[in-house]
Amino acid sequence: MLFLSSCANLSARSLYDTLDPGLKNSIAKSPKIGVSVLYSELQSNKQYENEIIKRFSSVTPENAMKFEVLHPQPGESNFTEADFIIDWAKLNKLNVRGHPIIWHRQIPSWLKEMELPDSKFQELFESHISELVSRYKDSVLAWDVVNEAFNSDGSLRKSIWLKNLGPEYIKDAFILAHHANPRAKLFYNDYDIEKPGIKSDAVYNLLIRLLAIKVPIHGIGFQMHLRPGFTPTEMEIETTLKKFADLGLEIHITELDVAIPVPSTDEDRQKQKEKFEMVARICEKMESCKVLSLWGLHDGVSWIPSHFKGLGEATLFDEQINKKECYEAFREGLNKRLY
Ligand code: G3I
Repeated sequence: MLFLSSCANLSARSLYDTLDPGLKNSIAKSPKIGVSVLYSELQSNKQYENEIIKRFSSVTPENAMKFEVLHPQPGESNFTEADFIIDWAKLNKLNVRGHPIIWHRQIPSWLKEMELPDSKFQELFESHISELVSRYKDSVLAWDVVNEAFNSDGSLRKSIWLKNLGPEYIKDAFILAHHANPRAKLFYNDYDIEKPGIKSDAVYNLLIRLLAIKVPIHGIGFQMHLRPGFTPTEMEIETTLKKFADLGLEIHITELDVAIPVPSTDEDRQKQKEKFEMVARICEKMESCKVLSLWGLHDGVSWIPSHFKGLGEATLFDEQINKKECYEAFREGLNKRLY
C-alpha cells in the first residue's frame, strides 16, 4: 500500500482514503509493490501478517500453488493452502500473483517415478492448468504460467514437462491458461535474464515466436535474484527491460532479493542498499513496469541461506522483522511511495 510515513499513526488504508483523487490516480499508475507469502507464517506469525498488510499491495504465494502442494498424491487436488492465501488476500484487499503453474521443481515424487503413457501425461498437464486457473478466475489476474524453462546456456531445460510433452508444452500452457481465464494476464517468468546474454536472448526469441503466432502471453517476469556473481548494472537492467517492453509486454519484477556474504560488512550492506534503490527506481520510472515484488519478507524466511552457502541477509527486514537500512534505500527508489 502506498502511503506517506509522516502519518504513521493513521492506519494505512484510512490514510489512503483521505488522499485527493489526483494523487490516488497517480499512485494507481505506479507499480504495485508486492512480497511473497508463506502459508505457514500466515498461520503462526501475527507480526509477519501485519507487516505485509500494512506495507504491500500485492502478494505471491511462495509455495502454496506449486504442483507438489496441490497434488500430493496421484488423482488428488489439495487447495487448502492456496485457498487460505486467496481468502486472506481478498479480506485485506491485496492483489495476488499466481505462481508458478508449470515449473520443473517441487514436483511430487509420485509423478517423477510414475511411468505414464503420453496421453495420460497430457491429460494431467491440461487438468492441472485448467483446474488451477479457473478455480481462482475471480481473484488471480496475473499468472506465472511457465517458470524457468531455460538453462543458462539458452537451451530448453530437460524438465519433466519437456521430456513428456516436447517443446510445445510452453505454448500449450499459455493457451490452456487463457481458456481457463481469458481475463488473466499471462507471464513467462525466469531468473538471470535481466542481464544481456545467451539466456536472456533465448527467452526473448521464444517470446517473439509465441507473439508471432498469437499465443496469449501478456508479460515477462524478471525474478531479479541479485547476488555476488550476478550483478547486472543499471544500464544492463534498463536496456533489457526496455527491450522486452518494446515487444508490447507488461514487465513484472517478480522475486527481488539481494543476497550478500554473511557475516556481512558495512561495504556489503552499502552495495546492497544501492541495488535495492536502483531496482526500485528503474521500475518506478518505467511505464510498463507494473509490479515490483520481493521474495521473502524477512531474512528468517528467505530461501537464500539454504540454497547459497555463505550468502544471506537478502531481504529488507531482519529475522525479528525490523526494517533494515536497505528498506529505506528501497523506499527512496520508490520516491517514498511505500509506508
Ligand atoms: O516439501 C517439503 C515438505 O514436505 C517439508 O515438510 C519441508 C520441511 O522443511 O520441506 C519441504 O520442502 C521445502 C519447500 O520449500 C516447502 O517449504 C523445500 O525443502 C525447499 O527447498 C523449498 O524451497 C523453496 C524453493 O523455491 C524450492 O525450489 C523456497 O521456499 C521458495 O522460496 C523457492 O522459490 C523459488 C520460486 O518459486 C521460483 N524462482 C526461484 C525461487 C527460489 O528458488
